[in-house]
This record gives sequence, C-alpha cells and structure tokens, in this order.
Amino acid sequence: MVAYEEKTLLKERFFMNISLEGASVRSRMLERFECQTVPAARAVPNLAEDVLQGFARRPRALPPKYFYDALGSELFDRICDTPEYYPTRTEARLLDQSAHSIIRQARPDHIIELGSGTSRKTAHLLEACEANGLEPSYWPFDVCEAVLHAAAEALLEAHPWLKVQALIGDYSAGLAHLPQPAGRRLFVFLGGTIGNLTPEESIAFLSELRGLMREGDAFLLGADRTKAPRLLQAAYDDARGLTAEFNRNVLNVINQALRGDFDPYAFDHLALYNETLQRIEMYLVARHDQEVHLMALERRYGFLQGERILTEISRKFTAESLTAELRAARLNPTHHYQTEDRYFSLVLARPN
Ligand code: SAH
Ligand code: TRP
Repeated sequence: MVAYEEKTLLKERFFMNISLEGASVRSRMLERFECQTVPAARAVPNLAEDVLQGFARRPRALPPKYFYDALGSELFDRICDTPEYYPTRTEARLLDQSAHSIIRQARPDHIIELGSGTSRKTAHLLEACEANGLEPSYWPFDVCEAVLHAAAEALLEAHPWLKVQALIGDYSAGLAHLPQPAGRRLFVFLGGTIGNLTPEESIAFLSELRGLMREGDAFLLGADRTKAPRLLQAAYDDARGLTAEFNRNVLNVINQALRGDFDPYAFDHLALYNETLQRIEMYLVARHDQEVHLMALERRYGFLQGERILTEISRKFTAESLTAELRAARLNPTHHYQTEDRYFSLVLARPN
C-alpha cells in the first residue's frame, strides 16, 4: 500500500490539467477518484537491465512495455482509429453486443482492468452495468500514468455514479500487491494484449490472476484471431505510418532514459506474420551500419544494415488455442463471443 501523502500527491497531479471552468466540478470528480501505485511483487529488470539483456541477444529484443510513455499511449490511441487496425473497432462492436450478457453473468461490484489504456471500450461494460442497476467501482491498471489520467477524467465525466481507483504499475512484476476489494470482481484484459506475451509468460500471468480469483469472480479476455496474413500485416503497418512512429518511439524512450543517441529514423518499421508461430513480429530494422552510444550504460552498440530489433510479438489465436491457454491456467471458459467474421474473440471464464 502507498502512503497517504503519495496518494494525495498522485491525485493532485492527475487533475492538474482539468480546466478550471468549475472548481466544484473538479472537486466532485476528485471525490470519486483514488490513485495508487501497485508495488512490484517480485524484482523485475529496470529499463537499463532490459536493454543490456535484450541487446546481448540475437536478434536484439526489447520488452513492449516501454512503448507506452505519454507519446506512445497517444500514438497507440490513434493507431486504434486507423482503417487497417481492425481489432479495436471489432472488439468494441463485440463488447457492445455482448456487454449485457457479460454483466448479467458477472454482476460485478468491481471491474479490474489490466492494461486498461484509454478505457474507451470498457465504457460498454459500464453502460451495461448502469442498465442492469449495478454501480461497480472501476480499477484501471496500467504502466502509463498519463493514459490513466486521461481515461479517469473521461469516465468520471461520463458516469456521475462511477468511482475510479486508478492503479499505476507493471503487471509483469506480479499481481500479488493488487488491491483486493471485497465483493464480486470482474477482471478484464482486452485489446488482444494477451498476445503480446509469449505462451509461457501468458500462462504464468493467467495463473497468477487465477490465484487472485475467488468463487463468484469472473474474467473477461479479448483476443485476436488468426486470419489472412495480409490483413494482419496491414493492421501492424498502417498506410499513414502511425504504427511505424509508435515502433520508433521506443528508441526515444531509451534515449531519454539512458542518455542515448539513437536516430529513430535510421530504423525502418517492419511487421511480419510468422505463420508457424501464429504471431505478428514487429521489428526495427537498421537502414545502414551505425553505432549508438548509450551514455548512462557507458556502452556503444553497433548495428549492421538490415539488423533487426524485435520490439513486439502479437500472437493470434484460434478458438481452440485460446480455450487451451485459459484451461492451462485453470480458468474455465463459460461463454465465447465472436464476431461473424471470426476476427476477434471475447471469452468469459471462471476459476475452476
Ligand atoms: N486495453 C487497451 C489498451 C491496449 S494497449 C485497448 O484494448 O485498447 C496495451 C496497454 O497495456 C497499454 O495501455 C499499456 O500501457 C499497457 N501495458 C503494457 N505493458 C504493461 C505492463 N507490463 N503492466 C501494465 N500495463 C501494461
Ligand atoms: N495489444 C496490441 C496488439 O497486439 C498492441 C499493438 C497494436 C501494438 N499495434 C501495435 C504494439 C503496434 C506495437 C505496435 O494488437
């Protein structure tokens, strides 16, 4: 748990940007808002260690969580609106169609969302709660503080009954210190983010989540499905180049954190569908031979023309592989919602 002073400070920081059109509006929103950091439950490498380890491997690799500084989250939000990135609108439509059914099954007192981002799609669940006479509190959990700010502000404004308990933290550092509110909980993990974890990471993560769940709790998972490779590749390589910018932004994040001199434009964005592993692989590809100096690490890294840095995987599922992964974590799928085109799945599961 975080000390009171820190909580208050975080809270003040959150709403600094709200225009003062009404101090009373601001204070009424503040009353329905809490924010805390979730301490790491186990030691995880920091950015410097991740870069040292990731750049020692071949191909070089970086963990995807570093995409999401304030600019990265903003870029991701814009990717979601590109014509090529079908997952967001498909999942939104699916949630719109199935929210009542989901909420009637789960009847949550609390909705806890992992990697919540802008929480735009979660609004469908909150509306279904409202329509079913439920007023759960909402616990968005994200590594990006800036995106939590924006999300909380929009939700508090849209739902005058809603209480938001924002959680800042890294789910790869474990879930043991996640607050445990009493009552029925609906855990939510949307956007196909499960696919950004390797199968081993995913099963470990789901098992840990399963360990937190009590009888009566439910878990809603959104996952992207296998489909024609050209559709998948386009979704991760939009014509406007937003995904390319998003991918390159991780080099800015490294520059800032480690006093580096990466030229992001000396790298090309590459998204490939690996059919064997049923996953998109995103790379940054060196456009020419170059040397990069990371001053904080006192290291120089050479990159040969064409050399790739793996920045993200995004696994795609069949109905069977998705169900199998949940079952491997002792989660029992009870409802499977999918669009007619089978582009995307929402699965509701219970601990078993
Ligand atoms: N759920 C949203 C956002 C998906 S993008 C949607 O469906 O649109 C992935 C989100 O997970 C981002 O908001 C990112 O900041 C967050 N995230 C990535 N790695 C994380 C980690 N290790 N711990 C907590 N949040 C993480
Ligand atoms: N969870 C998203 C996905 O796998 C993340 C994502 C979408 C993403 N587009 C991206 C990550 C582009 C990096 C680059 O679909």
